[in-house]
Amino acid sequence: MNAVIQINSADAREYVRGDDGWFAIGSLDEVFGARACRGIDIEGVKIGLFRVGDEIHALDDICTHGAALLSDGEFEGHEVECPLHAGLVDVRTGRALAAPVSRDTRHHETKMEADVLFVRVQA
Ligand code: FES
Repeated sequence: MNAVIQINSADAREYVRGDDGWFAIGSLDEVFGARACRGIDIEGVKIGLFRVGDEIHALDDICTHGAALLSDGEFEGHEVECPLHAGLVDVRTGRALAAPVSRDTRHHETKMEADVLFVRVQA
């Protein structure tokens, strides 16, 4: 896989849960800048955010195979390659695509409202 954008590190912001369960994350410029993905922490849950054009996908950031952060991997198309052992995950669904990743990654809902990205963390 060819690298498109080498990613990030988790930020230290605190995100507040709205009454409806959604967390306001920020505008796409604030969240991504020139990057295609990044890691954030929502109430202790590491979340990887992946941008494909206007599509924003949110997954658990910790690889199901080990302790690596998917948002530190190489991201191209709809696939992110884990930086530790090169397993592949589909960011649209969290589906495991290639060994050694064999378990799917939890996927979280996202939405845009008034140019703000919101994430709802799945229980
Ligand atoms: S930790 Fe991700 S493939 Fe091993």
